[in-house]
Amino acid sequence: MATKAKKKAKKAPKLAPDPYQPNPWYVVRNSKVHGKGCFARQDIPKGTRIAEYVGDRITWDEADTRYEGYDVNDNHTFLFIVDRKTVIDGGVGGNDARYINHSCGENCSSTVEKGRVYIDANQFIKKGEELGYDYQIGRDKNDPENVDEIYACRCGAPKCRGTMLWPAKRPKPKKRKKAKSVAAKSAGKKKSAKKAGKKTVAKKAAKKAAKKVARKSAKKAAKRAAARG
Ligand SMILES: C[S@@+](CC[C@H](N)C(=O)[O-])C[C@H]1O[C@@H](n2cnc3c(N)ncnc32)[C@H](O)[C@@H]1O
Ligand SMILES: [Zn+2]
Repeated sequence: MATKAKKKAKKAPKLAPDPYQPNPWYVVRNSKVHGKGCFARQDIPKGTRIAEYVGDRITWDEADTRYEGYDVNDNHTFLFIVDRKTVIDGGVGGNDARYINHSCGENCSSTVEKGRVYIDANQFIKKGEELGYDYQIGRDKNDPENVDEIYACRCGAPKCRGTMLWPAKRPKPKKRKKAKSVAAKSAGKKKSAKKAGKKTVAKKAAKKAAKKVARKSAKKAAKRAAARG
């Protein structure tokens, strides 16, 4: 029937290769960018779901505790933000997707769907090219002075912004209207200093997920309001 035919066909979900089997799209090799990297083992069409980023699913607090004693000048991390509650630690039970380096001229992008993290090709990728997505590691008001040095980017892209952090430039501190009590200040510092210890990749994906949650609850509220009349 005409009305049925007009109905939008539901988009078929993209299928990712089995995360625990050898990946058909890339191989892990030494990278000029940093340590190991992932390189296309064949031409990859735009839109391909290349991999799922897997590992130990933990809370932000667990991630903080796990990497508490680590050197703050060592930026190396396999942590990936899923949402406001969950972080994936690719360093524990992870797969080779954890070796995909950051690139400011990304040919891949990370996406969070139903709490799972995928790496998709956002353009045609030629065989042999290194895969990279923008980590957009979030800045924190308690970041050390040399944070830009610690998170310096070596991707080599023509438009490399020089940092894996986002925003690229450190925002200027806002002027405080009222001075808070000393006790309140130091309590806040302690918590944030702990959080600043190890940063987590893909802030962008987390922001998207957080926005989605906000949109959903706004819709629910609107429905409730409508039902109330
Ligand atoms: C998820 S690992 C990527 C794999 C890493 N190359 C390895 O061998 O373990 C992320 C870490 O790699 C390093 N890294 C990735 N991309 C980088 C880049 N563009 N510039 C500098 N270091 C980078 C940083 O230390 C980052 O924390
Ligand atoms: Zn760069």
